[in-house]
Amino acid sequence: MKGLILAGGSGTRLYPITIATSKQLLPVYDKPLVYYPLSTLLLANIRDILVISTPRDIEAYQKLLGDGSRLGVNFSYKVQDEPRGLADAFIVGEDFIGGDNSCLILGDNLFYGQNLTHTLKSAASRTDGATIFGYPVSDAREYGVVEFDKKYRALSLEEKPEHPKSKFAIPGLYFYDNNVVDIVKQIEPSARGELEITSVNSAYLEVQKLHVQLLGRGMTWLDTGSADGLLNAANFVEVTQSRQGFYISCLEEIAWRRGFIDDSQLEKLGHELKKTNYGKYLLSLLEESSLLLSENER
Ligand code: G1P
Repeated sequence: MKGLILAGGSGTRLYPITIATSKQLLPVYDKPLVYYPLSTLLLANIRDILVISTPRDIEAYQKLLGDGSRLGVNFSYKVQDEPRGLADAFIVGEDFIGGDNSCLILGDNLFYGQNLTHTLKSAASRTDGATIFGYPVSDAREYGVVEFDKKYRALSLEEKPEHPKSKFAIPGLYFYDNNVVDIVKQIEPSARGELEITSVNSAYLEVQKLHVQLLGRGMTWLDTGSADGLLNAANFVEVTQSRQGFYISCLEEIAWRRGFIDDSQLEKLGHELKKTNYGKYLLSLLEESSLLLSENER
C-alpha cells in the first residue's frame, strides 16, 4: 500500500502565521505538524510515502524529511502547482500509486488513541473499495459529514453542510483500492472549483463499496486548521506526553518499534538531537525495557 500526505494549501485561515511558511511545518508543541499525520501512516505500516506540497514549500519538506532512509522508509515528493482540491492528490500521485492501493492523509490531521494501530491495520488490509472514518464532533459544519441509518450504514455524505444530518465528521484519512485514480478523473469540481474528496467517497458509496468505520470516545482526532486548533493540539500533546512519559507521533520511535530501523540507527538519530528533550527521549528508549508498549502496539 502506498501513502500520500497532502501538505499543500495556502493556509489562509492561519494568516499572518502562514504568509511566509507552510502550515504543516508549524510546531505542534515539540514537533512539526506534519510529523503527526506521518506517524499515522507509519503505524499503518506504510513505508512508501509521497509528500505533496506547493512549489514554494516542497524544498522545506525535502530538507525536513529527506529520502526517508534514516527511518527505514521511502519519501518521494511531488508538487501540486495549484490547490485543485484534496482529490487532486490522486492525479498528482498517479505514477507513484501505480497498481497499488493507497491511503491519503491530510497534513494537518492528528490522530491518537489506544486502538489506533489496530484500526489502521484493519482498514489497510481491506483490498476492495474504500474505507473512511466517522468521528463525533460537537459542530460538524466545517467537515465532510456522514449520515447513517439506524444500523449505522452510511446513507449520504455531504461536504461542509450548513445543517449537518449527523454529528459524525469524516476525518482526513482515507483508504482506497486502485480504482480511486479513475474515479477522481471522472468527478466534477465542486461549486468552489475543487475536486472534493467527498465526491470520491460518494462515488464509492453509490456502488456500495464504501466502508465507514466509527471512531469512538477513546480516540482523539484533532484538526489544526485554526489558531485555536493549533493551540489545543499543542496543549493536548504536552499534557499527554508529560503525564505518561511517552511521546506522541515520534517518527523515530515508531520506525524503531516497527523494526524499520535497528538499535544502532536509533542511537545515531538520538545523538544528533541529544541537546533536546526529543533526542534524550530517543536515547532513553534504548535503555528501558519497552516490552509492555511494544506488545500494545503490535
Ligand atoms: C477537508 C475535507 C473534509 C474533511 C476535513 C478533515 O476539509 O474536505 O471533508 O472532513 O478535511 O480535516 P478542509 O479542512 O480541507 O476544509
